[in-house]
Amino acid sequence: MRRLPVHGATASAFAPAKVILLGEHTVVYGEPAVAAALDRGLRVTVTLAAAAEREPREQSGRDERERAVVELAAARFGLDGARVRVEVQSDVPMGAGLGSSAALGVGLVRALGALARRPLAAAQAAALAAEIDCVFHGQASGVDVAAVASGGVIWFERFGEPQCAPIALAQPLELVVGSSGEPRSTAGPVARLRARREAQPRIYDATFRLAGELVRAGRDALVRGDAEALGATMDALQGVLNGFGVSTPTLERMIHAARSAGALGAKLTGAGGGGAMIALAPGRTAEVAAALRAEGFDAFAATIGRAAAAEEVDHARIERRA
Ligand code: MEV
Repeated sequence: MRRLPVHGATASAFAPAKVILLGEHTVVYGEPAVAAALDRGLRVTVTLAAAAEREPREQSGRDERERAVVELAAARFGLDGARVRVEVQSDVPMGAGLGSSAALGVGLVRALGALARRPLAAAQAAALAAEIDCVFHGQASGVDVAAVASGGVIWFERFGEPQCAPIALAQPLELVVGSSGEPRSTAGPVARLRARREAQPRIYDATFRLAGELVRAGRDALVRGDAEALGATMDALQGVLNGFGVSTPTLERMIHAARSAGALGAKLTGAGGGGAMIALAPGRTAEVAAALRAEGFDAFAATIGRAAAAEEVDHARIERRA
């Protein structure tokens, strides 16, 4: 017989943030993408309150979407969402295009699984986290959740059923991640590109295929450890993204600053319209991050493709406080 958690029981799980290295937007149209978990992210802690402490909906202080997400996820584990307190500690900017909502979903599902003492199988956990991500962003390709759930570097393609495979890197990759500080949403740029494509399907479909070819070339460069070729591919994809209208003058300024400071390539990451950019800067992360900070932007160095990130992501722990 399964023992239900007692009130006061608490569980927590870590989930990494992510960057899309190659292929955002065109992944929505069936082209491939390469994405990676970062070596930082967020820790989600869930605590079960006593039934008497159940918060009335209007006093819970959670916004509508957060409440919907907690209730949706808790119900899958046989828990009453109104009794679940959620605390999130993050060392990445939230809502900046670095997958914080995907990490929240993955962390929440893992923490609730530990609390309810019935962790979901990886595929089910990823499916539930993807449902949660859709509450925040509307219909998504699933690449963000796949990268966060994998904890590593992935090749992702969405034909009817999404395909996701780990990529083994020749060596870990040193990036700089810069945050534009511009408010953004994923749904807006995705909808704007969809409208452009509907107006000129032949031209946009051809450009999507070209972007897909660039992603394949970038993946090959990544696997053989050719940073120069990977950087050139990132720059080419940034040109395409700018052509789609999803870059901003601020992101362009950041990308220019990163390249001038010695980055081998730089592009926006995620949906754009604000949010974050990445620069490939092996051996030059300090200089590139300093150049971005000198322009007034938050920036941090990150390494992708280290096994430790994948190990950390599986870590969920439970404590009983009662
Ligand atoms: C957002 O991180 C990535 C997009 O390609 C949207 C999606 O894949 O759902 C812009």
